[in-house]
Amino acid sequence: MAVLPILIAPHPTLKAKAKPVKEVTDAVRALLDDMLETMYDAPGIGLAANQIGSLERVLVMDCGAREEDEETRPMKIINPVITGVSEELSSYEEGCLSIPEQYADVERPAAVQVKYLDENGKTQERVFAGLEATCVQHEIDHLDGILFVDHLSNLKRNMLMKKLKKLIKEREDEAANG
Ligand code: NI
Repeated sequence: MAVLPILIAPHPTLKAKAKPVKEVTDAVRALLDDMLETMYDAPGIGLAANQIGSLERVLVMDCGAREEDEETRPMKIINPVITGVSEELSSYEEGCLSIPEQYADVERPAAVQVKYLDENGKTQERVFAGLEATCVQHEIDHLDGILFVDHLSNLKRNMLMKKLKKLIKEREDEAANG
């Protein structure tokens, strides 16, 4: 397992559409393991392949271990397809490992049904609700080249991306000056 570098927006791979996995091989399983390790290290609750520069249609998430005493609940999701959405919407303040330190409310269906392959290549279908619903939709968006800021008004998005650019420049200056 390895912690991989996470791409920061704007980056062309974050805007690209991931391609369905043809067969769940050991290489795909190794990629998922590396992505989970990278996500826990960040730390984050979800990570899509685009974010580490791969265009395999896979994502990992774990909304379980929010508190230290809670158990981890890692999920490895391959070729996800949303097969149903609730009429009810919910709003959640989202962030993204590819858009560090920027947050905004995004409204999405409160629950979604997703069909996918697990790491053994078996088809699964389950309903995601609450934080897991927000998380899985955010990560599936990544696989389609969509970032959470794309759900915001142009004004709000430009403001966040400007703040992000400033943050990255500050970090680079700090690194350069030791
Ligand atoms: Ni994200």
